[in-house]
Amino acid sequence: MKNVDWPFEFPGAYWIDEKEENAVADVIKNGSLFRYYGLGKAKYVDMFEAKAKAFYNSKYALAVNSGTGALITCMQALGIGPGCEVLIPAFMWVATVGAVIANNAIPVLCEVDESFCIDPIDLEKKITPRTKLIVPIHMAGTPCNMDVIMDVAKDYNIAVLEDCAQCNGGEYKGKKVGTFGDMGIFSLQINKNMTSGEGGLITTYDEDLYYRAFSGHDMGLIRVNGRLSIPDPFAISWGQGRRMPELCGAVASVQIDKLPGIIANMRASKNRIKKSLESAAGLNSRKLNDAKGDTGPFIIMILDNEAKAVSAVNKMKESGLHNVFRIADYGLHIYYNIPSLVNKVPLSPAGNPWNLSENSESVYNYQKGSCPKSDDLFSRSILLPIPSKLSLEQETQAAEAVREALKYSN
Ligand SMILES: Cc1ncc(COP(=O)(O)O)c(C=O)c1O
Repeated sequence: MKNVDWPFEFPGAYWIDEKEENAVADVIKNGSLFRYYGLGKAKYVDMFEAKAKAFYNSKYALAVNSGTGALITCMQALGIGPGCEVLIPAFMWVATVGAVIANNAIPVLCEVDESFCIDPIDLEKKITPRTKLIVPIHMAGTPCNMDVIMDVAKDYNIAVLEDCAQCNGGEYKGKKVGTFGDMGIFSLQINKNMTSGEGGLITTYDEDLYYRAFSGHDMGLIRVNGRLSIPDPFAISWGQGRRMPELCGAVASVQIDKLPGIIANMRASKNRIKKSLESAAGLNSRKLNDAKGDTGPFIIMILDNEAKAVSAVNKMKESGLHNVFRIADYGLHIYYNIPSLVNKVPLSPAGNPWNLSENSESVYNYQKGSCPKSDDLFSRSILLPIPSKLSLEQETQAAEAVREALKYSN
């Protein structure tokens, strides 16, 4: 069998052309590298935020310099701190749990279901009087079960921060992810559906949360016409210097126009590959909470057992699918692969947040085995990235390689 010629999975990066180049060159020529003032007048971060508001249909959109920064800023705006527990799924990215720690709160792990997103049933079971925030992560391109999650959140009066870093442009029942919860965050890092290399975005409908996030991402105040201004007391905070640079804004303001096309391409490739795998032996696909709202950057295959998954991944890699992973081995996406979490590494020598008196009742374990249902799924599931510009031949080769790998894995 011919080796598969399989590209890397940097969806937005493959779509960069002279439009991004011209916007970046414009920033350089103008000397307008900072969004609020400079040698020339800046416009791109403003433009990106305006386009984002329209695209997501969100009342507010705030550009920041990373998804991690967006998470920390939102949690600060939502008042997360000592004494708070934050519910997050076992399948995540280290930044999501890291943001909880950065705010001196305690993460509580929830199982994922066959959608590889947070299991709403387990979520409800993990609620305690200290639970102050739910962070559903729309993992690996696909939306969470937002109806049930929002019902639970309302019943218990708990805030929701959607982590949409891996599902930019995704929808649940026709509504963009990032607009269900109190706040939403996005990442524009190179692996994401659209990119500016680094970058992030915060969405919210809530004016107070917007101003608190604004103040937190900047210098602890707000700005009027680009100049610092003292807000009402509720929005005065400690700023974290997370503003988006104009160079990123230039790229992001072009990429956001391309996002629907990027998603359409990935979805089409994914669906064609999935279709040709329908007859493959012993293969189940991940459950999709809303197939129409899936953004398409990954296929997740669920096999019968761990041994089959190990063998199939090795065969797929040998055939050229170099970036395929058994999910258990997918690095810092899995709670038990995050050494700082498993070992409860503190933020400072003082031992915080773990030893804070406010957190004394929140004692949890993060070792492998803490989420057994998820552990089982991770051990026997395989994730195949779907690049955003594939030829039909590459798709056919990939499907063939997967079928062959499954046939001889036992
Ligand atoms: C689910 C999730 N949340 C947050 C982030 C953090 O984004 P960034 O890399 O822009 O800081 C990522 C990025 O990898 C992610 O996958």
